[in-house]
Amino acid sequence: MSVSAMSLSEAARNVRALAYAPYSGFQVGAALRTVAGHVHVGCNVENVAYPEGTCAEAGAIAAMVAAGETAIAEVYVIADSPTPVPPCGGCRQKLMEFAAPDTPVTLATMDGAEMRTTVGALLPGAFGSDHMERT
Ligand code: THU
Repeated sequence: MSVSAMSLSEAARNVRALAYAPYSGFQVGAALRTVAGHVHVGCNVENVAYPEGTCAEAGAIAAMVAAGETAIAEVYVIADSPTPVPPCGGCRQKLMEFAAPDTPVTLATMDGAEMRTTVGALLPGAFGSDHMERT
């Protein structure tokens, strides 16, 4: 099955299994659908120099941009966490760059719990390009 034909949850669950997380042991998968309807996936990729690791959401965004797309329509993030995994602060800002505030985000556990929210709800008071304008 092509990634585009898969559900976002299936795509995120599948890519999570590929996450490289030997240091935290915490594998995360992210899948996003673009406004054009394509699905891009990412997983966390850790590094022995810990701050050099990257999040699953960042990977999915990079894949989207590398495919020539910049508009996110929907996001799904999954991890083996006790409650639906919240994106880190940096990933919230990264999602905001390419999504409207009302863009749906589903956070999930491996047990099947899901929490639906939006990019805007995840990052209230977001810094934007308008904050760099003086007039
Ligand atoms: N992680 C993500 O990939 N996405 C998040 O939004 C939360 C945290 C990863 C980063 C690191 O590899 C591991 O989870 C533990 O923080």
